[in-house]
Parts: sequence; C-alpha cells; structure tokens
Amino acid sequence: MTKAVAINGSPRKQAGDTAMLLTPFIQGMKDAGCDVDLFYAAELKVKSCNCPNMYCWYKKPGNCCLKDDMDLLYPPLREAEILILATPVYVPLPGEMQNVINRLCPLMEPLLEFRDDRTRARFRKDVKISKILLVSTGGWWEKGNFDTVTRIVRELAEDASAQFAGAVIRPHAFMMKQDGKLTSDGEAIIAAAKKAGKELVQDGAINHETLDTISRPLIPESELRNIYNSLIPQQ
Ligand SMILES: Cc1cc2nc3c(=O)[nH]c(=O)nc-3n(C[C@H](O)[C@H](O)[C@H](O)COP(=O)(O)O)c2cc1C
Repeated sequence: MTKAVAINGSPRKQAGDTAMLLTPFIQGMKDAGCDVDLFYAAELKVKSCNCPNMYCWYKKPGNCCLKDDMDLLYPPLREAEILILATPVYVPLPGEMQNVINRLCPLMEPLLEFRDDRTRARFRKDVKISKILLVSTGGWWEKGNFDTVTRIVRELAEDASAQFAGAVIRPHAFMMKQDGKLTSDGEAIIAAAKKAGKELVQDGAINHETLDTISRPLIPESELRNIYNSLIPQQ
C-alpha cells in the first residue's frame, strides 16, 4: 500500500480553510488505497533549527541534534512515498510550517551535487519520498499569489531529488462558504479536491482540468476587493 504524510501548516488547524481543502484531498487518496498520516504543524512543538555546523550532515549524518516533536515526524516521513505540504499563504508561510521544512535536513544526504546550474542534495537511501506536492489556500483573488509558496515546495522537491507533483491551490478560499455552509461552488471544489487526491494515487499525477476546477475564480476581482475594503473600520 502506498504511504503518504500530510503536514497541515495552518495555525487554524482543523477549523481552517486549508483543512477544508486538504480533508477531501486526503479522502480521495485513501479511497484510492493510500495510507495517509496527517499532522498539524501547530500541534507539534518543533524548535527552529539553530545548529551552526550542520550536525545532521557533518557530525552525525541523518540525526538531528534537537530533541522535540520532529521525532514523531521523522519515522513516518522515512516510510512515506508521498509528502503533502499544506499551508495557507502567509507571505509566504506560517512560522510553524517553515520550522518543519527547515528540520527536514536530516532526511537528506550530505553529499552535494551540481545539477542544472544549481547546488542540490538528495534524500537519504532510507527515505522513500519520491513525490512532494503543495495544497494551499489564500485569501486574495489571483493564482499568482501562490507563486512564492509553490516555488518553496518545488525548490524543496528539487533539492531532495524528488518529483514536484503539483500545486493544488484555492484562491479566495473563504468564498467556498456562506454563513458557515458550503456553497454549490464550494461543494464542486470539494468534489474536485477529492478527485485530485484519487488521481494522484491512481494515475501518479493530478489532471490539469481537476486543478483548474479547484482554483477557478468564484467572484470578479473588483467585487472581492470591495468586500475586503468594506471591512476597514470607519474613522
Ligand atoms: C498573517 C496573514 C497573512 C496572510 N497573507 C496572505 C497573502 O499574502 N495572500 C493571500 O492570498 N492570503 C493571505 N492571507 C489569508 C490566508 O492565506 C487565507 O485566509 C487562508 O485561506 C487561511 O487558511 P487557514 O484558514 O487554513 O489558516 C493571510 C492571512 C494571515 C493571517
């Protein structure tokens, strides 16, 4: 059975818009026979990496010198074939998520390579992750707003010699709900997110049309901007 680890970096955890998109995505993966372990970065106590000499590369390769909840994550990460990084856009990432990403270093081989004009590493032989992908929600209108988080996850994949398996992104995600309930557009996006998870496991890749359904505009840009600007308290 294919194994995956999903890390949700939203500080709002289960109550957040990122979970609203990630939950059906994971369900689709499970329906296709994948075993998915889900973690919330904000529930884990993960220190920021403060190691001056790259202990996990040059002192004791594969071992982190810090002792905290990363010890709960490393074993399933070594077993997983797919890594899903789920996050809201926070110009660019919530701090807890960045800490987790930085602490992935012990999973990499210390041997540097020069590939396509870039200094790269690769996952250690005991790490099975071959695909990394992004699931992300944002508040603003345009898809370009996800470029930075997408770049971060793509860079991580390329650094680790894993395949970047795509970006499942949902701009103005809060518009999927009205008065706390999913709209019909919201329901269609949830169904597409589930389909995307299934496609990833069954076909090895997510169909472009499925991604487009998930990220399509739900409102004209000027209307969304007016909604936000009307929230500004009057002096
Ligand atoms: C500190 C902060 C920064 C944010 N920055 C952006 C941003 O740059 N672009 C964007 O589209 N949304 C931004 N947002 C909105 C969130 O990304 C958006 O509401 C997201 O769907 C929240 O997901 P969550 O409920 O899972 O936390 C920001 C929100 C916060 C609190």
